[in-house]
Amino acid sequence: RKRAAILISGRGSNMLALIEAAEDAHYPVEIAGVISDKADAGGLETARGHGIPAVAVPRGDYASKADHEHALQAELARLDPDIVCLAGFMRLLSAEFLEPWKGRIINIHPSLLPKYKGLDTHERAIEARDTVHGCSVHHVTAGMDDGPVIMQAEVPVLPDDTPETLAARVLAEEHRMYPLALAELARSAN
Ligand code: GAR
Repeated sequence: RKRAAILISGRGSNMLALIEAAEDAHYPVEIAGVISDKADAGGLETARGHGIPAVAVPRGDYASKADHEHALQAELARLDPDIVCLAGFMRLLSAEFLEPWKGRIINIHPSLLPKYKGLDTHERAIEARDTVHGCSVHHVTAGMDDGPVIMQAEVPVLPDDTPETLAARVLAEEHRMYPLALAELARSAN
């Protein structure tokens, strides 16, 4: 099986979807470990509860973005993954950081990219009166929520939706789609 490392910043529900998919021995990826840039990320305990090593590498522990990225890179080197999955990791990674992971680092974002990069995607879809919204898994490049799309899933926007009800509908699709997209990438990579 291919090895994946997961980078998180928060609750880690997408991380958990990947961990649970990988608990099936037939899934083509095993989860090598989880790294958070927030010491208090709920996902750290969730990962450990599933027997997955999980560490925090907080930005505040380092003098510069470059030092922080070196520390993240060192943790990744220890996990030695084939693929890196960003799952609610809310930090832009530099081109230098991404270089060794080209084609092997992916992200999930709660919009139909290229629409609504950044934050508050559900609110923006409602405001724009979109009737269709969704989520995307894409290759990570130095641009925010940029890079070639691997897979997308659509959900309807209903007349009574609030950002919260819409987010919940999209999140269910995220949890379904991210394991599919990771498996597809793992099977296509050599
Ligand atoms: C998810 O909805 C994910 O798509 C989004 O943050 C949430 C994290 O939730 N990511 C982004 O907005 C990236 N730009 P989770 O920690 O429960 O997976």
